[in-house]
Amino acid sequence: MNATGWKEKLSAIRDSFSISAAKIPAENPEALELRFLGRKGELALLLRDLKDIPLEERKTLGALGNTVKEEMTAILTGLKAVSGAPGPAVKTDLDLTLPGWPLPKGSLHPLTVTLNRMGECFSKLGFSIAEGPLIEEDYFNFEALNFPPFHPARDMQDTFYVDLKDASGKDLLLRTHTSPVQIRTMKNQEPPVRIISPGRVFRSEAVDASHSFVFHQIEGLYIDKGVSMADLKWTLETFMKDLFGSSAKVRFMPSYFPFVEPGAEVEVSCVFCRGKSDTVRCPVCKGTGWIELLGAGVVHPNVLKACNYDPQKWSGFAFGAGIERFAMLLYGISDMRMLYENDLRILKQVH
Ligand code: PHE
Repeated sequence: MNATGWKEKLSAIRDSFSISAAKIPAENPEALELRFLGRKGELALLLRDLKDIPLEERKTLGALGNTVKEEMTAILTGLKAVSGAPGPAVKTDLDLTLPGWPLPKGSLHPLTVTLNRMGECFSKLGFSIAEGPLIEEDYFNFEALNFPPFHPARDMQDTFYVDLKDASGKDLLLRTHTSPVQIRTMKNQEPPVRIISPGRVFRSEAVDASHSFVFHQIEGLYIDKGVSMADLKWTLETFMKDLFGSSAKVRFMPSYFPFVEPGAEVEVSCVFCRGKSDTVRCPVCKGTGWIELLGAGVVHPNVLKACNYDPQKWSGFAFGAGIERFAMLLYGISDMRMLYENDLRILKQVH
């Protein structure tokens, strides 16, 4: 090999070293060292070849070769320090094995936990979830639910009206119950129907320990062939036992809602005193042993007709329950307002 060839070879080795040293992810510095500077490394072998080159040129080439060797050694030392291999000690306080700072974790709101628990019970019974808008038309909130115009039953639900009109020129309103989702669902699908519909509802009511102008309900609707009051009773009893335990009992008291016939208030045996408040009067059931929990009944034929379901062919039941009331019973909360005040001392108790 002549001097020019040798120089070219040195430059090629230098380039290939630079490329290998700059690779991401980095190559193992020990392997690089062995490949270029080791006893049989590329640079070491080239330096050995110097012996074939005439003396006058050998000196300058040798100096050039040594400069490249020093360069490579310096770069390798740097790489070893970064990769943590033995090399000049790099001091650091960083300990990657220390645990991280604990972050305060939030938890679900008691109403959400309650709703999830209620939803789980019904999903086991084959109910799926349906939703509807909070701003509703008179038609869905009242008319199709068999509330005739000017019927006094409309006064049972003090309504917030919105300063906007629907397509038929009537004022829009904030839904007073989740029952309009019954109509929206039936108009959208063929029977059979088996849905629950949780959500926010609004009534113009003064706030106290058991009332609020905005609260939550869960609606249930089951339409199929031959569905009766007996199915309603079994479903609600199964649901209550699942939620409150197998000793929970259910009773139906006659009641009136325009969209069901017959209609009922459903009561559950008091989960606190279990009906045994003989000596001290139970503050929750007021000593009666029963707690009123929801409205229910067999879907009125007029409601089915409004949705183009043939009442001769299909029948069903519906129920509507306040979620707040269930949350208060499940978690022993005595004042509904506690559910809206975001006091962490209350919220942290429910998981
Ligand atoms: N929508 C009724 C209310 O809010 C409850 C209900 C629902 C009653 C379904 C019967 C059937 O008071």
